[in-house]
Amino acid sequence: MDDRQQEQCAGSAGETVARIVYASRATIRESVYAEMEKIRANALRHNNPAGVATALLHQSGWFVQWKEGPEEAVRDIMDRVRVDARHRDLRLVHASKGPRLLSGPWSMAIVQGQDHVMDMERRVLALQREVDAGVEFSPPAIWRRLSTPLQHPGAMQQQDPDAFQRVLVCSAAGTGSFELTDWLARLHGCDVVHRRFAGAQSTDVATDYVDFVHDGRVLRVIAMARHGLLLPLTRAFLPDYSLLVLLLAADADANARLMVRVLEALRPLPQPPALLALARHSQSHTEPAALARRCGLDYGAGVADPADPAGCWEALQTLPTALARPARACSQ
Ligand SMILES: Cc1cc2nc3c(=O)[nH]c(=O)nc-3n(C[C@H](O)[C@H](O)[C@H](O)COP(=O)(O)O)c2cc1C
Repeated sequence: MDDRQQEQCAGSAGETVARIVYASRATIRESVYAEMEKIRANALRHNNPAGVATALLHQSGWFVQWKEGPEEAVRDIMDRVRVDARHRDLRLVHASKGPRLLSGPWSMAIVQGQDHVMDMERRVLALQREVDAGVEFSPPAIWRRLSTPLQHPGAMQQQDPDAFQRVLVCSAAGTGSFELTDWLARLHGCDVVHRRFAGAQSTDVATDYVDFVHDGRVLRVIAMARHGLLLPLTRAFLPDYSLLVLLLAADADANARLMVRVLEALRPLPQPPALLALARHSQSHTEPAALARRCGLDYGAGVADPADPAGCWEALQTLPTALARPARACSQ
């Protein structure tokens, strides 16, 4: 089974479901990933037949869980989860009815940030105050505010600190996307945030990001392992990205495999991000560009060595309007 078949949805798209997000203090300190794998096994056994999909995050001593499915089934599962000794102080920070946003039964994420347990607590309490004051957020916006808020000082000078441009970078082969985020972090003297994502059966994949100011605007550049593109959690956030940068390989088959994943991930989106592809040789663009255009996607082509982050970044600047696209306003 490949990653496309593994992440099938527990229910059908288009139906209205109950959606909740809660945050809780983890009581487990060690072997967190192994414990999350055990929870995954339970969840797949109980949630899937009930049509409930879920995403579970562990970060700085906290769990955040997003669940969606038939109301009664979500309630029944939560009755069990609430009394689990592996967490405490559970706070419901979101409850709504709406379309399914998770395309598969299970996702999990671990963020290895510098945050202290109290930083997360401050975020949970601040969010709860906003929610209590009547501000409405979607489940992905809640997740982002808790897990990956924009903490760059430049964000506070923006009218909406959540509306910043997000650029997703994926390599057809090798680790050029991660070398790019590392290089950007060194260039701007800031930290890379490291995360691991996993789906229902797949092993975990890396996804890192870096925030910095570019041309007076805060930009987030996110490196995603190609096997992570079809994970439900990645797909739930794809509408927020204004650009998807593809670092093509010399191997045409690797490029074709990447394009299949990209096209499948973008297919359901009414407003897909623009594609910007970089390759060492311009002829590497011929087939990917034809495929993208056949699917109605914008495809910008640049020439740079994917193993050379400085050259890739320079090439991206030269593509018309590449990094100056409007940010997606996705905070609510
Ligand atoms: C943070 C957290 C999230 C969990 N999420 C789920 C879940 O979505 N579905 C589920 O069945 N169990 C979940 N569990 C595990 C349940 O609390 C419980 O241990 C499990 O459902 C018991 O399954 P069993 O009766 O088959 O042994 C979660 C546990 C924790 C600590």
